[in-house]
Amino acid sequence: MVIMSNTIDKCLDPVPRVDIGFFPTPLQRLHNLSEKYDIDLYIKRDDLSGPGFGGNKVRKLEYIIAEALEENCDYIVTYGGFQSNHCRQLTASCRKYGLEPVLYLIGDEEPKESRANLHLDRLMDAEIHHITDDLGDVGKTLEPAMELAQQRIDELKKEGHRVYNCPSGGFNPTGTLGFIRAFGELDSQFKKMKITPDYLVHATGTGGTYTGLMMGKKIIGSDVGILPFSVAPLFPGLKGKISETSKEVSKKLNIDGAIISPDEIDIDTDHYGPGYDIPYQGSINAVKELAREEGIILGPAYTAKAMAGLLDNIKKGKIQEGSTVIFWHTGGTPTIFAESSIVGDVYG
Ligand SMILES: Cc1ncc(COP(=O)(O)O)c(C=O)c1O
Repeated sequence: MVIMSNTIDKCLDPVPRVDIGFFPTPLQRLHNLSEKYDIDLYIKRDDLSGPGFGGNKVRKLEYIIAEALEENCDYIVTYGGFQSNHCRQLTASCRKYGLEPVLYLIGDEEPKESRANLHLDRLMDAEIHHITDDLGDVGKTLEPAMELAQQRIDELKKEGHRVYNCPSGGFNPTGTLGFIRAFGELDSQFKKMKITPDYLVHATGTGGTYTGLMMGKKIIGSDVGILPFSVAPLFPGLKGKISETSKEVSKKLNIDGAIISPDEIDIDTDHYGPGYDIPYQGSINAVKELAREEGIILGPAYTAKAMAGLLDNIKKGKIQEGSTVIFWHTGGTPTIFAESSIVGDVYG
């Protein structure tokens, strides 16, 4: 089947989905920053998307939780850094649907105090396994974490449970559907608000949000330029994974024309600073600027880095004056209450 126009809802309708989020999330104009930078700047408020402080993962989890329930699972295992937004949103979503969340959280050492997302994970009573990041790279430590998790999965299965194994960031073909649907939601808002966007900017980590948005854009035939800003060095093989996932999703939905080829993937890696979860002056300034100019709180590890990239591109003229830009606020706001090594000095 060739998709000609706005048929996203139609192609997703047959796929099971549960309601978790508060959708559509608002699309708001940032008047002060628009005036300051001579652009038309809007923000898509997925920081307001759902229970347990929301964020982009809620969209993926609506499909993932539905799949877990279809498979009669009663446990979900997942992975992330010890301040993972994904793990916190998965825990909140599990609590709504009576599933037991099991988290493998990777960090330097077990934190003495539970702040931000870790505080919320504990409050919601997730089963937490702390994995020390001996390799100094959360991405690389995922592999040993998954091996350890497999032992727990086998144990749970022996006890008669059914376990859904959710990858980090909820990046699998099922989770990707959430961001295809999200693109359809945004496109309807463009039409209602008579917005013709030039660029859509967002933070990228595992690549699932980007994959869904790119597929949604292709399905609709939109011209908007999608600009992903990575928050860490790219995972090895990421472009191949994005492309393969788009193929699997296309097959699942029985659609043509939405496959992403590795050559068209262009992810900015110039604005994550010293590394994942480490702030730098540009990202700290972005947090302060959004808070002080618009009263909007960014998360230091993701949206702050993407906003730093957007502001830098505007200042360098890579995003031209007069452009219409959408910044997708993918959430992570609880991490503004995280350790100062993650947040940085945001008062001065
Ligand atoms: C706040 C926030 N923004 C963006 C992302 C990146 O999303 P993805 O993993 O789908 O690339 C994440 C992922 O953890 C996140 O927590």
